[in-house]
Amino acid sequence: MATARVFVLFVVLSTTLAEEFKLKFKPSTKPVRLFTEEELKRYDGSEEGQPLYMAVKGVVFDVTKGKEFYGKGAAYNALVGKDSTRAVAKMSLDPEDLTSDTKGLTEQQLQSLESVFEGTYKTKYPIVGYTASRILTDDGSPNEAFKPEDQPHFQIKDEF
Ligand code: HEM
Repeated sequence: MATARVFVLFVVLSTTLAEEFKLKFKPSTKPVRLFTEEELKRYDGSEEGQPLYMAVKGVVFDVTKGKEFYGKGAAYNALVGKDSTRAVAKMSLDPEDLTSDTKGLTEQQLQSLESVFEGTYKTKYPIVGYTASRILTDDGSPNEAFKPEDQPHFQIKDEF
């Protein structure tokens, strides 16, 4: 019995550590994937077996492990398959806020966006790419100022 418990603990710990390792040491050589609006829409949870992706500030996160929030029929399903920056900033699920547009947001909403972006999305979910509008300029040429985001370096002990 005790051996079984130790084995389960070992499996749980190695899975958690492997996940953390992947977030910390994601190879910088991995190509950045660019998502058009149509491509991102495929990951909105309506297709069985597809991962769940959503973008915040043009950064596309794989939020599949937050299925209980974002999956089909879940409370925040409206946020996935698109860039939901405005909705996250305003903590709103109003259809008109399901957009990357940050025009007219208050200082407080922008601060809240920053804190959820850093503290929830970048900390919890792997980055899988960027939206076309983050990587390209209006005329479709590459945005020279584009820089990939780093995943924050956090320790497993910070979780407890
Ligand atoms: C009555 C209103 C609401 C309640 C009671 C509520 C409650 C919660 C709770 C308890 C969590 C944390 C869950 C956990 O970490 O286990 C959470 C997370 C979250 N909520 Fe809400 N919420 C509400 C409305 C909203 C709205 C309107 C939005 C719109 C964007 C929103 C967006 C989020 C997001 C993005 C997270 C983070 C999910 C993640 O970790 O991936 N919430 N909410």
